[in-house]
Amino acid sequence: MLQKLKQRWGVNTLNLLLIICTFAIGGSLCGKAGVKLLELTELDKNVWWWILYVVLVTLLWPFFVLTISIPLGQFVFFKKYLIKVWGRMCGNQIAALNVAIFSSGAGSNAQKIINYFKNVSTVNIALIVCNNPKAGVLAIAKNESIPCLIIEKKQFENGDSYLQQLKEHKISFIALAGFLWKIPMAIINTYPHKIVNIHPALLPKYGGKGMYGNYIHQAIIDNKETESGITIHYVDEWYDHGNTILQISCPVKQNESVESLAKKIHVLEHQHYPATIATLLEKLK
Ligand code: GRF
Repeated sequence: MLQKLKQRWGVNTLNLLLIICTFAIGGSLCGKAGVKLLELTELDKNVWWWILYVVLVTLLWPFFVLTISIPLGQFVFFKKYLIKVWGRMCGNQIAALNVAIFSSGAGSNAQKIINYFKNVSTVNIALIVCNNPKAGVLAIAKNESIPCLIIEKKQFENGDSYLQQLKEHKISFIALAGFLWKIPMAIINTYPHKIVNIHPALLPKYGGKGMYGNYIHQAIIDNKETESGITIHYVDEWYDHGNTILQISCPVKQNESVESLAKKIHVLEHQHYPATIATLLEKLK
């Protein structure tokens, strides 16, 4: 049971204990506050008293758990939890679309996507998939209370490609953000036109195997290109190959360094990737 909760909420044992404490302390304080408030009304303890009590406790509960979650370090979790509960109570007919972000590195794009959708109740960043146990994106996932799946090459490429786990997390869209492995056909076939990637150059130039990160920027500078940019594209069975969704270019100056170009490109990525994903998700609803 606890194991299942840990998996579902994407938290470790300590966080799970703190979450349970928050529920318990917040809940009991809220119950007590409800009784105290009703004492002020001097109502008899009849059926109306109980109805009022339930209404009061329902209204006060979010306030109490959120307040208790702050000193226990669980605010982010409870904020998300309450947004979900609220969405359900309002009878949100449109179920939230669960998105997985695949990343192998620092995860700055992942962070921007997470931030963008934080208060969008119809989109839920439900899973971070990572092939590198040392990647910075894992700290981001932990901080944001998003479940992580660390994958292993053999199972990803030649096994079930973790389809079962994607299904368990009800993933309906995948955004690659600095993910270095090729996506296996099993996943591509399961998510037709629902996997996108961002590439830090103007494809089809400077794409393909081995073309990632600073290797791309270095090649662009070596070849004295006068412009570079970003490409957001659908993912197919080849590296950096699927149909282009958006390209934005930027100038490459004569004295451009790999670092300055990388910085410029990151700014463009952060500006355009989350919004482009949002537009694509809109069409899926
Ligand atoms: C980005 O430049 C992206 O275009 C490429 O990998 C990089 C990932 O950076 N596919 P970050 O991990 O999101 O900071």
